[in-house]
Amino acid sequence: MSTRQEFLPYALPLIEEDDIAGVVDSLKSGWIAKGPKTMEFEQRFAEYVGAKYAVALSSCTAALHLSLVAAGIGEGDEVLTTPMTFASSANVVIHTGAKPVFVDIDPVTMNIDSKKIREKISSRTKAIIPVHIAGHPCEMDEIMAIALENNLFVLEDAAHAVYTQYKGKLIGSIGNATAFSFYATKNLVTGEGGMVTTNDEELYNKIRVMSTHGMSRNAWNRYAEAGSWYYEILSPGYKDNMSDIMAGLGLSQLAKLERMQGMRQEIVDCYQAEFGKMPELEIPVELDYARHAWHLYIIKLNLDKLSIDRGTFIEKLKEENIGTSVHFIPLHLHPYYRDTYGYKPEDFPVAQSVFERIVSLPLYPKMSRQDVIDVVDAVKRIIERSRR
Ligand SMILES: Cc1ncc(COP(=O)(O)O)c(C=O)c1O
Repeated sequence: MSTRQEFLPYALPLIEEDDIAGVVDSLKSGWIAKGPKTMEFEQRFAEYVGAKYAVALSSCTAALHLSLVAAGIGEGDEVLTTPMTFASSANVVIHTGAKPVFVDIDPVTMNIDSKKIREKISSRTKAIIPVHIAGHPCEMDEIMAIALENNLFVLEDAAHAVYTQYKGKLIGSIGNATAFSFYATKNLVTGEGGMVTTNDEELYNKIRVMSTHGMSRNAWNRYAEAGSWYYEILSPGYKDNMSDIMAGLGLSQLAKLERMQGMRQEIVDCYQAEFGKMPELEIPVELDYARHAWHLYIIKLNLDKLSIDRGTFIEKLKEENIGTSVHFIPLHLHPYYRDTYGYKPEDFPVAQSVFERIVSLPLYPKMSRQDVIDVVDAVKRIIERSRR
């Protein structure tokens, strides 16, 4: 029980020989932009989540943005989302010209509180972006019912939710569109990268066309042997597509997703057993309707039982060579959102109070048994010394 020698980051990707081979294969093929590998990745990913269509993109942020634009969200509209998320969930709303309107969170799952959504609906509300925080699904039945009643577009932010199930169904085909992230720390990585899935053919076609400048034909359909030089600009689109180098990695990662999730689950089982015994901590839950993707392992400190605050807890873990993070600093506390919309910390009291208690501990397949033991021991030591 002593401080580990090397720093343990809070997240790392699992890159193995099959991943390297997948990328090398793209490089050797001579086609490194969007081409056959990206299209295969789209098809396999759509099949995996059980959606009709998928468009592979440069990020989840692009997936969120293009979905809103394709849904016609813009100037004068309001979009409901949670303050407890990464900036891109709300930044993209602003990029369309619409206004993000926050709904406070559930204190246990930290997802948007579906019981508080109705209070925030106005005549301008056009869409809702539920975010499946840490990989725990939102209450989708309730959200879909509210959306149906009020004619709202549902865009799921599933940046953390590859592998998440809601009532036995994989996230990816419940809302009108679902946006996934394959950023370096996610459960499935392509370095940077994302995917949007949908069952709506019209939405799919709009997103696909807008992801490459609004062109009627992408590069593969122009430069490949069977292609044609002619194209038309159908809308002033963006340049948000994925490349075959990234898709080479995405395909190998998707093929071993189940195994990587099994590795995450083993670590979580150990954490839950150990941290569950400590009254100074509140451990994350997996509600009966959920299969958690365990993208993040977020503990909440019971501050009334500790003599230190969250910031000091993180500092002490750092002294123990354990990396951590905080997911998230609620958006209404950031200068831009605070000053632009005049938010006060107490406007979202649950998000505010939960924020002061949360710490994300290291969780990723690459962690060794010893790494996991080191995290548990370090947390135990800090708590023993800081018990009230
Ligand atoms: C909840 C959430 N939404 C969206 C994103 C954006 O993902 P990307 O980096 O792929 O654009 C992130 C990134 O971490 C996230 O945590």
